[in-house]
Amino acid sequence: MAFIVRPVGKEKAVATEVQIYEGALDKGLEGVVACSTAVSSIQGNTLNFRGYTIEDLAQNSTFEEVTYLLWNDRLPSAEELKTFRSQLVSEMELSSDYIEVLKKIPTQNVHPMAWLRTAVSLIAHWDTEANDMGAEAFKHKALRLTGKMGSIVCAFEAIRNGKPILNPKKDKTIAWNFMYMLTGTEPKADHVKVFDTCLILHADHELNCSAFATRVTASSLSDLHSAIVSAIGALKGPLHGGANEQVMIMLKKIGTIEKAQAFVKDALAAKEKVMGIGHRVYKNGDPRAAILRKMSEKMTKEMGEPHLYTMSALIDDTMQKEKGLMPNVDFYSATVYYSMGIPIDIYTPIFAVSRISGWIAHAQEQYANNRIYRPRGKWVGKDGLKK
Ligand code: COA
Repeated sequence: MAFIVRPVGKEKAVATEVQIYEGALDKGLEGVVACSTAVSSIQGNTLNFRGYTIEDLAQNSTFEEVTYLLWNDRLPSAEELKTFRSQLVSEMELSSDYIEVLKKIPTQNVHPMAWLRTAVSLIAHWDTEANDMGAEAFKHKALRLTGKMGSIVCAFEAIRNGKPILNPKKDKTIAWNFMYMLTGTEPKADHVKVFDTCLILHADHELNCSAFATRVTASSLSDLHSAIVSAIGALKGPLHGGANEQVMIMLKKIGTIEKAQAFVKDALAAKEKVMGIGHRVYKNGDPRAAILRKMSEKMTKEMGEPHLYTMSALIDDTMQKEKGLMPNVDFYSATVYYSMGIPIDIYTPIFAVSRISGWIAHAQEQYANNRIYRPRGKWVGKDGLKK
């Protein structure tokens, strides 16, 4: 792959002339290295968080442990993890003042991601450190935002259904509390494990669209809440986090195994995107999808709807044969969430509940070594017009 790399120090030597790189314009910055990062890396089809493979973390960690890793560049000791978990969970509760305002935000005909974007922006108004750019304030806000993200999503679900907003249980994890507050019942231990693994798999992903949005906003030295709101806006789109919801809608529309292959062929003939398939970086498979595929097979069988997995696998195989494209993280996560009874439009908000950990790590890295993002536009408009 060809990368476009800015020559170090060049623009300082030629102060009046900044070199313009004209390659990759209008191509979504494909192949452009936009910054250095030590948060996560993709090499071939290997994904690492801070040096640990995603397979290792998914198998042997918890979401809280992975969050600590992303923010601190090392795994916590048992004692550190205990403290970190209790700090996070103690930030999960939403204040009654804030809830009163949340209840006034319309929920009908509003996508949960749009509601979440507003709710996260609002929470800054109760944060006395919102504009404090110091390192200590950053840590507090990181804990608050990460702790509260899941509670806000569950508050949305409660408000739109006219149900009470539940408080988290202090001795439980983020995964447990999320499932409890979303459904109102204590979740099964094996479902909590599956959900926690999903949170780990979605926690970070190098310079994806929403991480980049976080960094762009942080690079103007805007505050953390603003950076996270930018990220939520970017994640909402169907080409990024919004795809998991679209996968489930697609599977429901297809309906039966028999119709799956024809659906894919028709979509390709019409030049339509098959959701959850393809990736800008992975061309030989997304390692997260491989883990989720196994989880989807097991969970759909357990739920008594194994055809959902069979249909997904058929779409996956057909896309590989017809177009050489493989599933991404959103493809099999859809049926995993569906098997746990999670409402379809909550899938993308769940992505945010997890990815906030990565966004914060990227914001932290950006603030620590900042230069404002200010690329150039190649002028293709009219010139010399007169009124
Ligand atoms: N379904 C059908 N065709 C697809 C496709 C999909 N999901 N993803 C890519 N393609 C096709 C493109 O149409 C293009 O075909 P062409 O060369 O015949 O014109 C080719 O594959 C290259 O795709 P391109 O759009 O350049 O990929 P990209 O790197 O710009 O986009 C994605 C990557 C992820 C945005 C894209 O694959 C996509 O839209 N996938 C569906 C949405 C999704 O799942 N998003 C979640 C990402 S984690």
